[in-house]
Amino acid sequence: MGILDSMAARLKDREAKAMLRRFSIFQPSTISSTSNLADFSSNDYLSIATSSSLKDAFMRRASAGRVGGSTGSRLLDGNNGQGEMEHLEARLCRFFDAEHALLCPSGWEANVSLFSTVPQPGDVVLYDSLVHASVHDGMRRSRAHCVAFKHNDVRDFERQMDAIVSSGRLSPKANVFLAVETLYSMDGDYAPLPQLIAAARRHFPAGSGRFWTLVDEAHSVGVHGATGAGICQMLGVCRDPEVMRVCTFGKGFGSSGAVILTRSSVARQYLINYARPLIFSTAMPHANVHLIHASLDVLESEEGPARRSRLHVNCGMLREELRAIDGLQEDEEGLLSLQPRAESSQASKLPAGGDPMWLRAVCNAAAIGSDDSDAGDPPSGSSLTSTAPSPPVPLPSPIMPLLTEHASTRPLAAFLQSRGFLVRPITYPTVPLGRDRVRICVHSDNTEEQVRGLARAVREWTTRESRMRGSNRGGDEQQQQQPPQTSARAGRESRL
Ligand SMILES: Cc1ncc(COP(=O)(O)O)c(C=O)c1O
Repeated sequence: MGILDSMAARLKDREAKAMLRRFSIFQPSTISSTSNLADFSSNDYLSIATSSSLKDAFMRRASAGRVGGSTGSRLLDGNNGQGEMEHLEARLCRFFDAEHALLCPSGWEANVSLFSTVPQPGDVVLYDSLVHASVHDGMRRSRAHCVAFKHNDVRDFERQMDAIVSSGRLSPKANVFLAVETLYSMDGDYAPLPQLIAAARRHFPAGSGRFWTLVDEAHSVGVHGATGAGICQMLGVCRDPEVMRVCTFGKGFGSSGAVILTRSSVARQYLINYARPLIFSTAMPHANVHLIHASLDVLESEEGPARRSRLHVNCGMLREELRAIDGLQEDEEGLLSLQPRAESSQASKLPAGGDPMWLRAVCNAAAIGSDDSDAGDPPSGSSLTSTAPSPPVPLPSPIMPLLTEHASTRPLAAFLQSRGFLVRPITYPTVPLGRDRVRICVHSDNTEEQVRGLARAVREWTTRESRMRGSNRGGDEQQQQQPPQTSARAGRESRL
């Protein structure tokens, strides 16, 4: 059998398991006013990508400058011109409260550059089991030892850290890196970032230079913080010199590209010298530089806060509506699930403050820099520090996955699409086995009618499903097409 035959066989196998990835084209209503599909799918959380204000800002900037390709790697001709890239990097430093910025053509390249270059042989990277595929790709190219800890589990992180330190294998000069996302792209929950940092500081005090936090803010920039500068800025974590951030522009910014932010000129210089994606690939085109400026223009105008507050209202509304649906459970991690549960059909209500889908800004900010070993339990009711000017309100997550049985994921997405709502089925291997879901993303420009309409459609589906289950009961009851469950919410391969 030739290679194309074996490829075809593997694709056929994927198709048979309802796992085949393929392109699709939809026209969500935020793109075309004649379309009847409301966008609950794209990562354009603030509905900026399709806005006329972005287009106007871009046209203004583009008409006054170059728009074409950069013509080479930034180390060759890609940096030629009037210092456009440096100018944008300086603006990004001001916006994100960073000292040094390095532009990358994409978040994937930024993560691969950072993880393949900065951790050294003998170092250890402790990564959340749900970090993005691009971090995995970077770690694969790294010579550091990489170890997963359970998703958002501070206790497991502490256990792993204790084991590494007490093993005696870490040389006195070796470093430990924490790899997390502030807002997870598929589960839509927030990292307990200050608690993780505080836990690590029991071994590596601040300023020791041996514990580093590498944070992917892809899904939080634009959306979170008083100015949209993300969760690290909101919590004051960005002021920690041992924190490096990757912020991407393809989501809340409605643009494309990414930036690596540090407080160290050495780190930036090192990346320029050793990060292969940066050295051996064409730099970002000028049009993209204008587009990122244009996104900043929109975010820094009065539209920025207005869009964020509309988004927050819409997120709160949808979550409330979904939580009220009979047959839709809420697990201990705050994920909404349509998977049938034997014991109860009622949503399990979580105690206030314990819901990981809501970022409790005040609680988290208070834990920064704390040496408190009880790192898993954020203190409540504490006042904000001056470096963490976050609003004293919980921030709802714009990403709301509905966990489903494998066999229902695509039919549910198709059903919701047929009712006029663009949502996507996300199945293994993009998410871990047994964690298939319909991923819902809320946007600033979703109308109240769309938000309530989507919840109504989900309710219609659950009612229909429970009726069907009722009528099937007694037959071949649990003929689920679900692939075998594993304990692997974790797993290096989970995003591939
Ligand atoms: C968490 C996370 N990090 C990084 C990336 C990669 O960013 P980009 O799309 O700019 O390559 C993504 C993209 O989906 C992401 O979700």
